[in-house]
Amino acid sequence: MEAIEILGGRPLRGSVSISGAKNAALPAMCAAILTPASLLLHRLPQVRDVETMAEVLRFLGAVVETREDGGREIHLSTLSTHRTPYRLVKTMRASVLTLGPLLARFGQAQVSLPGGCAIGSRPIDLHIEALRRMGAQISLEHGFVNARCGRLRGAEITFDLVTVTGTENVMMAATLAEGTTVLINAAREPEVVDLAKLLAGMGARISGAGSDTIRIEGVSGLHGAEHTVIPDRIEAGTYLIAGLISGGSVRVEQVYPHHLRALIDKLREVGAEPKTDGNWIEASAAGGLQAADIHTAPYPGFPTDLQAQFMALMTQANGTSIITETIFENRFMHAAELKRMGAKIGIEGSRAVVQGPTRLSGAKLMATDLRASASLVLAGLVAEGETVVDRVYHLDRGYADMVGKLQNLGARISRVRH
Ligand code: EPZ
Repeated sequence: MEAIEILGGRPLRGSVSISGAKNAALPAMCAAILTPASLLLHRLPQVRDVETMAEVLRFLGAVVETREDGGREIHLSTLSTHRTPYRLVKTMRASVLTLGPLLARFGQAQVSLPGGCAIGSRPIDLHIEALRRMGAQISLEHGFVNARCGRLRGAEITFDLVTVTGTENVMMAATLAEGTTVLINAAREPEVVDLAKLLAGMGARISGAGSDTIRIEGVSGLHGAEHTVIPDRIEAGTYLIAGLISGGSVRVEQVYPHHLRALIDKLREVGAEPKTDGNWIEASAAGGLQAADIHTAPYPGFPTDLQAQFMALMTQANGTSIITETIFENRFMHAAELKRMGAKIGIEGSRAVVQGPTRLSGAKLMATDLRASASLVLAGLVAEGETVVDRVYHLDRGYADMVGKLQNLGARISRVRH
């Protein structure tokens, strides 16, 4: 088992290049199922989830190759099986993104139900309901979604909740359906917009991506395409917060600042002077940090994937911060670990009340999910003494070389086996 060891107390300074977005890469890879031609995808991040998705696609019959320039070529000309196995889906819930494309191109799919995860039950009922509306016969047996259809039919679909992968799954399915599909209350995340851009590059007819209403006119087939995924806004936000929590200043480069407007506004509110231009953002808090409240929400609101990191930051801010998590029912597990370091955090249902500033002391910590792990590493940067964050595999799912990137910013951090 690997762990991360951090010796806190050193302010981080410098620049870090941000990788491609994991949550844009995963649906983009699944889009390769929609065509017999090849997709060439650039800037896929070197994270575990991308390799897991490559394994899923190979299992289905795809060839997934890495070119000299780092681009990933994905080609699924014939299907070996329409069944995505539990052993892969249980490690990565995003495997459900194979469902829509398999139905659209092959009329059949068997995808293991993802089951819950640490942050919540995370059902896929909205994905299933929408695909049924498009003519798929879907039954849930033995933990599997068994789906089959003739050619899917366009439909008007209103999502009860904003669902990112639900929007992506159904948008992909609709590209090859008979007629027009309208998605109402669709997710507006930049990763949805990026997928729509890739699909359009493959010949799909999509309008409205980025708004809450997306129209897709089905076509008879899609061709190959080349695409570069957008930068990872959550990775970028994580490193900006790393600079602030350590009392230093970090510049994140190769990012789209307009994807991080909610965070930038919040950093201004806490007293960090975020500067931004073209493709970089920098933040430092020479004058100390002030408490601020956050309320997670679908894009363009404050991202739930930055909530844990922001909570760690607020342990160092002057005053009381109220953090309200509206997306997932159990996304405060990092709070218990932060409290073991000395943080003053009270949890009341979907609200966490953080008193700051508190001196944190290094401790042995247990990570539970991807973003909670990041939050504990950030706390270790400012804690007195040594912090050990166990179960590093959570971090490796979504952060490319976090230890190396933090070392380059001056952190005393290393990976250890034990
Ligand atoms: C995506 O997950 C992201 N993952 C998550 O990032 C992110 O936290 C989440 O969107 C919210 O922004 C990927 O894009 C691969 P949802 P997703 O469907 O699509 C409920 C990370 O750290 N819901 O938008 O699975 C659901 O339970 C990960 O990178 C239903 O009830 O999230 C949740 O409460 C974590 N039924 C809410 O909607 C459904 O059919 C939003 O979930 C679907 C969702």
